[in-house]
Amino acid sequence: MCGIVGYVGDKKTTEVLLGGLKRLEYRGYDSAGVAIIGADGQLRSRKHAGKLQILIDDLEADPIPEGRTGIGHTRWATHGGPTDENAHPHLGDDGKLALIHNGIIENFQELKARLLTEHPETEFTSETDTEIAAHMVGYAFCETGDLTEALRQVVGRLHGAFTLLAIHSDQPGVVVGARRNSPLVIGLGEGENFLGSDVAAFVEHTRRALAIGQDQIVTITDHSVAVVDFEGNSVPTEEFEVTWDASAAEKGGWPSFMAKEITEQPEAVANTLMGRVVDGAVSLPELAGHEEMLRGIRRIVIIGCGTASYAGMIGKYAIERWARIPVEVDLSHEFRYREPVIDDSTLVVSISQSGETMDTLMAVKFAIAAGAKTLSICNTQGATIARESDAVIYTHAGPEVAVASTKALGAQVTAIYLLGLQLASLRGTLEPSEIAELLAELQAAPEKIRTVLEQHDEIRELAKWMSDTRSVLFLGRHVGYPVALEGALKLKELAYIHAEGFAAGELKHGPIALIEPGQPVFVVVPSPRSSDSMHPKVVSNIQEIRARGARVLAIAEGGDASVLPFADQVFAIPPASTFVEPLLAFIPLQLFAMELAAAKGLDVDQPRNLAKSVTVE
Ligand code: G6P
Repeated sequence: MCGIVGYVGDKKTTEVLLGGLKRLEYRGYDSAGVAIIGADGQLRSRKHAGKLQILIDDLEADPIPEGRTGIGHTRWATHGGPTDENAHPHLGDDGKLALIHNGIIENFQELKARLLTEHPETEFTSETDTEIAAHMVGYAFCETGDLTEALRQVVGRLHGAFTLLAIHSDQPGVVVGARRNSPLVIGLGEGENFLGSDVAAFVEHTRRALAIGQDQIVTITDHSVAVVDFEGNSVPTEEFEVTWDASAAEKGGWPSFMAKEITEQPEAVANTLMGRVVDGAVSLPELAGHEEMLRGIRRIVIIGCGTASYAGMIGKYAIERWARIPVEVDLSHEFRYREPVIDDSTLVVSISQSGETMDTLMAVKFAIAAGAKTLSICNTQGATIARESDAVIYTHAGPEVAVASTKALGAQVTAIYLLGLQLASLRGTLEPSEIAELLAELQAAPEKIRTVLEQHDEIRELAKWMSDTRSVLFLGRHVGYPVALEGALKLKELAYIHAEGFAAGELKHGPIALIEPGQPVFVVVPSPRSSDSMHPKVVSNIQEIRARGARVLAIAEGGDASVLPFADQVFAIPPASTFVEPLLAFIPLQLFAMELAAAKGLDVDQPRNLAKSVTVE
């Protein structure tokens, strides 16, 4: 939700900023802008509504004079529509200061009223909450003559969540950033330094990064990085190496990031398992020191948003079965505001690809304040949620660029299974041999995912054929239920088609009224060999909807004779155990949503109104 980049150094500043914004565009894409202090000491800004390419084309046709200091922003609108005026940067101090913002300044109306009393000459040119900060920092700079101090004086008066970056033409060669509950990382170069919403902003130039904490202010020049807290005290930073290189975040010949990322799922699962299965047991050194806590907890609450919440639902089935601990799953935003009953015997597990989703971050903070233990499952090194939690299990899906999450989900499910098996081992609820068997099944999953991916062409044909469809339903039971929910979410997100997922058993309690002749229904069918006795129930559900004219699209084990004659189309998945099945069944549904969106001519990487990392509540 809004991407931010800052740079000081000798490279072409416009190119560094636009390169960073391209990699951050997944965070927001309704307008973009840059500000650069030129070699002549003048600050110039350019910004446009619409996708980043409009700004790039304009800067190519009419370049801004180069300099060594600049900031860039790609926006997801909150206050004020996506117009040129509302795009960032916003200017202060008579155009000598430029400021960009990610987050929401909740008290901006009140601050604006006060500023207009103190400085009635102030002219506001946008409807944003950000512009007030630009003016306030501008006035503070007039008094202090120092950008770091000016920003420090202002941030204490802002309510809400923010990352702010500012430059001032009287202090060229300096970019100052401040963060509260919104992301900001530092990239360390040789004779140059970077700031970004995440490492993607600068990974093309350096893989050395510094994570900074909450309520901190960073000042970079080409040769120095200084971090202070909001009181001005110097604070230590933590350096880390980015584990992937720039090519991992390139399309690499694929038509879209989404196509690439769906196809990368075997690696996402394999890499998340890598080094974590040793001699048939789970090895999670990141949980060392937490064993007593994990043995002692009495309850688990899993929280997440969107796709991550469905990984949590699958995790509930697995952890309850394997470790015999009661597990609740909640959407982060619902959890936080429902006065949940949690204490120090509760483990709150947050799942987030970005590690920055504001709803989840706030729920984690709530859990910490209530005395609960916290563990995050996160795909982004150094992300805020990971840093706030007592422990973190990183997923190793690699950078996920397409806005709608795909490969991160497979990795999240894998990570929560590892947690479930570790809990089972610590609590003695499964025999070591049972754990070894489940781990072996998981290790075989990547190869099975590859065989499901081979059906891409068939799924593309179906999607093309169905491109006029106005409504699709999805059914599943047990772990197939979250798969059905995810299938519906993907279709809504990517193809803007009404879609709903249901627990198959709930069908007769209402949703069956929606079935009319021709209604497409995807059914996630468990394996006929599964010991959970769900298969016959789902087969009966297929009969019920067929009897009412539904068009049945089944995701079922290849050769399942009780499904084949009754489905209009079957997407075969290889034989797999109950908990591996979701990792396979997601694939046809993701491919279907992507291909249907593509058939409608839609942008599958940047669906309308969405942002990948939702850093507002
Ligand atoms: C946004 C994205 C979803 C994602 C959700 C949670 O809504 O569009 O694809 O599932 O955020 O993101 P997280 O980074 O917390 O996993």
